[in-house]
Amino acid sequence: PALDRFILALPKAELHLHIEGSLEPELMMALARRNRVDLPFRTVEEVRAAYQFSRLQDFLDIYYQGAAVLRTAEDFRDLGRAYFDRAAADSVRHAEIFFDPQTHTARGIPIGIVMEGLLAAVEEARVRHGITGGLILCFLRHLDEEEAFATFRAAEPWLDRLLGVGLDSSELGHPPAKFARVFAAAGAAGLKRVAHAGEEGPPAYVTEALDLLQVDRLDHGNRALESPELVARLARDAMTLTVCPLSNLKLCVVDAMDAHPIDRMLALGLRATINSDDPAYFGGYVADNYRAAAAGRGLDRAALGQLARNSFLGAFLPEADLVQHL
Ligand code: ADE
Ligand code: ZN
Repeated sequence: PALDRFILALPKAELHLHIEGSLEPELMMALARRNRVDLPFRTVEEVRAAYQFSRLQDFLDIYYQGAAVLRTAEDFRDLGRAYFDRAAADSVRHAEIFFDPQTHTARGIPIGIVMEGLLAAVEEARVRHGITGGLILCFLRHLDEEEAFATFRAAEPWLDRLLGVGLDSSELGHPPAKFARVFAAAGAAGLKRVAHAGEEGPPAYVTEALDLLQVDRLDHGNRALESPELVARLARDAMTLTVCPLSNLKLCVVDAMDAHPIDRMLALGLRATINSDDPAYFGGYVADNYRAAAAGRGLDRAALGQLARNSFLGAFLPEADLVQHL
């Protein structure tokens, strides 16, 4: 209907998208064949049937397994190209994309292969679709800080082509404090800092991300709502939250879409945005996430427009580019 067309046409920035999470089963099977990688699945239907999760770790196990088909710079470029083509169809104008180098270097893929493939896809998106984009290098928090430092050092030749660093993977038991030193080093190198916090982890992890990692943006942040003091601080500081409705539903962060707190976040004065997280695994790209949230919570055009506006306000865009989008 009309609201769906409004959502589709609404210019958006996507701020929370793991490129490995945009690997569709069809491309996974094609790359497995191209690279002679064994998968525990024989058909696309078998892959999709395995995507039933009751918590973050269920998803992560299968997501790291799927990423094993990515081996060459061409594979990473093809993955990025597929995402940008799909994002263009959803009126995405700007995308800040997460990638997990440790998932690949642990398999013997040099970080340069990952960087060159993804940077080629970003450049191609600018030429083909007029989408501006950038990359955010994420450290895997289930690994230790020394491994994060080794990754940061390996990325040294490409730091001027990165927007920032992030923190993802298994949240519970891996508080932001564990990565305070490597985030300080990234900040000293002039990089932006973001972190997943308050997806499954408690409000204290959100506070740590702010105080110890000095984040410029917060990924998810749902559980911050449990603390009125924290909500007041996030609102006062105009901290952007990159919220992911379909991810929250699939990973059981919310019980149902009609229980999603997206409109409550806006009412509390939080700078919430809507994003797709891992669209190939959670059943939808960014416009699907806007539609699901709108249907679940009865969002009107004003709220949807605010969410899209917030996505540009929260982006790491130069002022001159930002004004073009507002
Ligand atoms: N890696 C990919 N998606 C993630 C998520 N939603 N939370 C933590 N790590 C992730
Ligand atoms: Zn995420």
